[in-house]
Amino acid sequence: MDENLEDIRIKIQRMAELAEVNGEPLAWFEELYENANRESEDVPWARMEPHPQMVEWIANRPEINGKALVVGCGLGDDAEWLEEIGFDVTAFDISKSSIDWCQERFPDSTVNYCVADLLSPPEDWQNKFDLIVEIHILQVIPENIRDEAAKNLSLLLNNNGHVLCIGRLYEMNVVEQPAPPWPLGRVWLESKFQNLHLVNFTRFKAENNSVGDFPSLPRFIASWQKK
Ligand SMILES: C[S@@+](CC[C@H](N)C(=O)[O-])C[C@H]1O[C@@H](n2cnc3c(N)ncnc32)[C@H](O)[C@@H]1O
Repeated sequence: MDENLEDIRIKIQRMAELAEVNGEPLAWFEELYENANRESEDVPWARMEPHPQMVEWIANRPEINGKALVVGCGLGDDAEWLEEIGFDVTAFDISKSSIDWCQERFPDSTVNYCVADLLSPPEDWQNKFDLIVEIHILQVIPENIRDEAAKNLSLLLNNNGHVLCIGRLYEMNVVEQPAPPWPLGRVWLESKFQNLHLVNFTRFKAENNSVGDFPSLPRFIASWQKK
């Protein structure tokens, strides 16, 4: 493994463990963005471009349009791309520094960037979105609160709305990690979205992924539609 990658992994593990002990398991995200001081190299998941599988998935579904919600938007590249192709985008993150950073990167953006928590989303988001994009979010939320996060995703969809999830796939031979990200099993995902209709579930490997993203691990791209 790349030495820098291993350093980042150890740093994240320490931050996440301390946050858990302090009873605020997601607080380490703000710490990481704040300490990065606008150096994207210090944000291991920052691709600085829209996720290629998301782009391909959307490009193949021109019938999906309208209001999009980008969950845990990070540095904003997915949100900006969706807005560019015509969605009316709301993008949120639990970290204020990440949202400030998005607004600095894209000062003329028409994306509605805001600080919010998937575990307690604003009430007026219920039944609102035609498309919800969740990339690498459920997999960083500890297991004891992950069910609640998944349930909230489906509550925010409007009739016929789609939720798109991309992440690491749990398979029998995947070694359990003590720190995030934790790979997600297909059985768990399907059970959390059983009130929705499964549209597709595809396993892939992202050989050319960005640094910090452990390229050789199995991934999934899956989507569900509100019945
Ligand atoms: C692994 S990063 C992925 C960022 C981005 N989606 C991407 O693919 O580059 C996870 C992001 O989710 C945010 N996050 C974690 N828990 C969250 C929550 N409960 N509500 C909103 N955002 C959250 C973090 O601050 C971080 O920006």
